Parts: sequence; structure tokens; C-alpha cells
Amino acid sequence: MKLIFLMKVRIIFALSCLMILTSVGSVAQTKNHYQADSDKLTAEFHKERRELLRSKMPDSSCAVIFASPERIRSADVDFVYHQNPDFYYLSGLNEPNAMLILWKEFRLVEGVKTNEVIFVQARDASKEKWYGKRLGTSEVISTLGFINAYPSEEFDMMDGLFNGLSKILDTGIPKGLVDDRHSKADLSDLVEAFQLKSSYPTAKHDDYLLGKLLRSMREIKTPEEIKLLQKAADISVKAHVEMMKALKPAMTEYQVEAIGEYFFMKEGAQEPAYPSICGAAENACILHYQTNRRTLNVGDLILLDMGAEYHGYAADITRTLPVNGKFSEQQSKIYQLVLTAQKAAIEACLPGNNFYDPDRVAKKILSDGLINMQVIKSPDELGRYYPHGTSHFLGLDVHDVGTHGTLKAGMLITVEPGLYFPEGSPCDPALWNIGIRIEDDILITEEGFVNLSAALAKEILEIERTMTEKSIFDQN
Ligand code: GLY
Ligand code: MN
Ligand code: MN
Repeated sequence: MKLIFLMKVRIIFALSCLMILTSVGSVAQTKNHYQADSDKLTAEFHKERRELLRSKMPDSSCAVIFASPERIRSADVDFVYHQNPDFYYLSGLNEPNAMLILWKEFRLVEGVKTNEVIFVQARDASKEKWYGKRLGTSEVISTLGFINAYPSEEFDMMDGLFNGLSKILDTGIPKGLVDDRHSKADLSDLVEAFQLKSSYPTAKHDDYLLGKLLRSMREIKTPEEIKLLQKAADISVKAHVEMMKALKPAMTEYQVEAIGEYFFMKEGAQEPAYPSICGAAENACILHYQTNRRTLNVGDLILLDMGAEYHGYAADITRTLPVNGKFSEQQSKIYQLVLTAQKAAIEACLPGNNFYDPDRVAKKILSDGLINMQVIKSPDELGRYYPHGTSHFLGLDVHDVGTHGTLKAGMLITVEPGLYFPEGSPCDPALWNIGIRIEDDILITEEGFVNLSAALAKEILEIERTMTEKSIFDQN
């Protein structure tokens, strides 16, 4: 009896170990740090970006780019650090208190012939014990491909960095600087030293041109960037599918948000690319709603605008769903109109078209539809129910930089028409509290376009069918 008991204990123990190992194995398969890091942009990518920028800079100019400031959340707690996308694009460095200088021509810096130098946080065992590893100058050189890297402390002591230049380009002095009086080389000190050393501002300083050059570069995504953007979209599509499957009345907006963000992280995203917008009923009519505290009722629509960030690159996807799994007749009518406008606008995402062509297409269909439904009398009333544009660029920023001219292969834009009828709108009260947006991420190609989020249901029947699928969050 005792032996059988012991054997049973052993078998249960062995099975438990196996289960733990299997689950660790499957976690390792989906979220392995080494694997995740191995698909980051390479040092060569960032170096090529610097070369391309240099080739566009005026003769005898230099460009100065600062890392983002750290931002206080409250008391001695900071917000999670997010790098300045321009700085990341050109360097690959994700640390604060750093500064990059690129010169058009080679020159001698501290006796070394170079055309670029980066100042970074020095290694510091006591700081790293609290806040994690810093690359320091030697790893910035070995892993990010810089010839010259100096501790930020040394910038103040270097002379001649801005001598003999016809132009000093920057993207403006960073805002929200707070001087850390325990540090001699935080961003605030670097900026102050830069202003002193370069006699800022003089006629040589130009805080417009660099932004313009970077916009024209960042709006065209390279194949390496497109891979990361597709990954961000794939992760976000998975999260949206799981939210569709789990959604039901009596949940709260934040519970739906939690499911989406759980899948972002489970699939390897670093964080949401922007605060998740999970707005039900009247909240769906608030364009950038972030409170996410309401309880969901039968008959509500919920607008889910959620995208993951993967190695700095954003997805931005919206679906609007019926909380009880079926669109009402009134909801279907408006949904179908937005969907028709969205699909037609996507068809206008062609190389050679203008950035605003998809917007024009969407607005024409929406205003014709609302005029037919006798909600408005003329197209100029559309803005009351469609108060935003149809597209923005997408990349390292969710509202990415771009030139808003001709669409070209390599550009990535969102297509996101919507209609919103807040309570009290001068229309049939049956429309009140309907807020619908449908948003996909569209890559312009040589041949036309590719929808990076095409795998996610958006037809009414497709959504209703997906919502009948079992969720891992269902009780039984
Ligand atoms: N997620 C914000 C936007 O769609 O622009
Ligand atoms: Mn969005
Ligand atoms: Mn968007």
C-alpha cells in the first residue's frame, strides 16, 4: 500500500516535472530572449542610415542628435524609457543621456580621423545594479559599429568639435529636460554644453533641415524594417483575434485590453505602440479614449484600437466589434459603410498616387452614404461625424514622420476611416453612441500595396463567426 502510494507520488512528480518542462519549453519557443534579440536591426543598418544622411547634408555641416530625456512618472519613479526614434534609427542605442554628432566631411577628433562620434553613458556598477546593464563605450564600438565613442562626461572637455562648419543641424533642443544634480553628464548637461560650445543660436544653426532630411529617409522603409513592421502587425493580429474570441457582455474595457496586451507580450512585443484604446458605446466616439474602465453591455459596440511595438516598430490596428457577438441592423448599416470606404481607400494606396488620395476616396464614400441615409445634407457636414484624417505614416513612431506627397514603394500608411455619433448629435437618436473605426496597415510596393494586417477579420460575417470560436479565457 505504502509502495503503491510512493510510486503514485513519484509518477505524479514525474508528470508535473514534464508539464513544467513542456510549458517552459513552449514559453522558450515563443519568447526566447536570444531569439528575440537576434532579429533586431543590425549595426550595418544603422551605419548605412548615417551614411545616407551624411550624403544629403550640406557641405561642411554637422548634425547633432540627442537621445530622449528620461521622464518622471511620479516622485522617484520614471516612465519606461523610450528612445528618440531619430536617434535609434541612426545609432541602434536604446539608452538615455547620449548624443550623436555626424560631420559631412572627415576631421580629426581627439587625434582620430572620423566623421562621427557618439557620447554615451559610462559603465557604472552601482547604477547598473539598480537600472540594468549599460553598453558603455567599448560595447557601443563593438556591437553598434562606431569607430569613436566617448563617455558623455567627456563632451564638455572636448574642444573644436564645431569649428570650421558652415551649418550646425539639429532637430531642436529636447523639451522637458530635468537636470539630475547627481550627474555631470545627463542630457540636460549635454544640451547645455552643446549650446555653449556651438554658441547656440547663431545663423549657422538650423533646426529645420535635419528633420526634413530624416523625414524623407524614415518614410521609406527598408526590407529589414518591413520585416519588423510585419512582425509587429502579426503579433497585433493575433491579439485582436484573441480579443474577438474572448469578448462578451459583462466584461470590462480593461479586461479586453488585458487580453490584447497579454498576447502582445506573450508573442514577444516589448510594449504597446501607444496607449490601448478600448472604448465601448459612447466611449467608442472618443477618438483617443484611454480610460478603459467601463463595463460592457449587450448591444454595445466596442472599438479596439491596439497595436504592438516590436524592436521599436509599431503596428496600429482597429476593429470595432459587437459586444454580444452580433451587429444590430443599425450598427451593420454604419459598419458596412465604413468598411466599404476603408476597402476603397486601400485600393487607392498605389505608388504614384498622392498621400491624400485614400482620404479623398474614403470621404466621398462616407459622405455619399450619410447623405443617402439622410444623416447629412451635404459633404461639408461630414466632419461632424468623421473628424479625423484617413491615413498617417507608420514606423518607429505610431504617427510616423513623412513628407505627405507622392506615395512611393516602401512607405507604410494606415487606412482608418470611421464614423462617430456621440449622444446629442443632430441625427436619428438610434445612431447615438455608435462609434466605428476600421484600421489596417498598408505597405506601398512597386506593384501596388500589401496589407500587413490582412489576416484579421473585418467583414461582418467573418467577425461574427470568429466571435463564436472558443477562447482560452472561457470558463468551460
Ligand atoms: N492609434 C491611434 C491612431 O490610429 O491614430
Ligand atoms: Mn489606431
Ligand atoms: Mn492610426
